[in-house]
Amino acid sequence: MSKVTVIGAGNVGATCANVLAHKDLVKEVVLLDIMGDLARGKALDSWQQAPIDYYSTHLIGTDDYKNTEGSDIVVITAGVPRKPGMSRDDLISTNAKIVNIVTKSIMAHSDNPIIIIVSNPLDVMTYAAYKTAGLDSSRVFGMAGILDTARYRAFLAEELKVSPKDIQAVLMGGHGDTMVPLPRYTTVSGIPVTEMIDSAKLEAIVERTKMGGGELVKLMGTSAWYAPGAAAAQMVETIVRDENRIFPCCARLDGQYGIKGMFLGVPVKLGQNGIEEIIELKLNADEMKLLKDSASAVQSVMEVYDTMTL
Ligand code: NAI
Ligand code: 2OP
Repeated sequence: MSKVTVIGAGNVGATCANVLAHKDLVKEVVLLDIMGDLARGKALDSWQQAPIDYYSTHLIGTDDYKNTEGSDIVVITAGVPRKPGMSRDDLISTNAKIVNIVTKSIMAHSDNPIIIIVSNPLDVMTYAAYKTAGLDSSRVFGMAGILDTARYRAFLAEELKVSPKDIQAVLMGGHGDTMVPLPRYTTVSGIPVTEMIDSAKLEAIVERTKMGGGELVKLMGTSAWYAPGAAAAQMVETIVRDENRIFPCCARLDGQYGIKGMFLGVPVKLGQNGIEEIIELKLNADEMKLLKDSASAVQSVMEVYDTMTL
């Protein structure tokens, strides 16, 4: 794989392109935005970082889809971010139109790309891109779980005074306040986290994780970008390297967890073909109920999308 396109040269897209260049994985990263000069400027700035940080990946900025021709992977970050007081779901009317047109334009210039969605509301925008692209569901999926799990892992590392490297965790469900962090599947270098922290503190961390995006919106007046950009770049990396790493991603379920035909965060194996496998955990009754509640929340936004004229 030699070419990755990132659509949207705003906070998340530009960060993703810059992190990708630092990984020195592919020959070319194309950064596309309707604000062409913004894309051209950020790509040029990132390219001028190459002699300092030692990478060969060439970045180009553009507003012309011709430059995206033959992309192996496309990351969609185009769309508006939320402002204080807004939920991710409030973005649907603007972002559904954007994701729709962007997906059509990508498909007009690349044959069988892998598409990673970042735009919010994430689960439904992934569904929108899947419906528009006409690709196999193994090639259209969304980034949220890596970010949400990273927040959970970072909070735990701070509380336990250990390196975040040593916290392993899984988180499922929609990318919203109903997301489902799973303490039963959380370890610190293999030690169950429940043996290292009392339940009240763990519960507080779970709650803070669920509201983790909102905490940053309150602080900055817009949503986060460093961790989201890096999370999307990590998905690209595991695909390009064909690593078969397991990450929580927003994937189309086809009966797994008793859910069919909707996109939701679940652990998947990511490799050169995109989603190589959806992993089905043996959830207990409480965990399953939380997942089903989260699926219902996503379902109601999906229904809004289905009735929209785009
Ligand atoms: P931003 O406002 O900094 O950048 C968005 C960019 O999209 C702008 O530069 C804009 O010109 C561009 N854009 C708008 N319409 C376009 C079109 N039709 N074609 C090409 N480019 C277009 O926003 P930011 O912070 O980068 O966030 C982007 C999206 O990602 C938002 O919807 C946000 O909610 C979402 N997000 C999702 C996360 C996740 O975990 N899935 C995490 C963080 C953000
Ligand atoms: C986040 O969780 C806005 O979805 C984005 O930061």
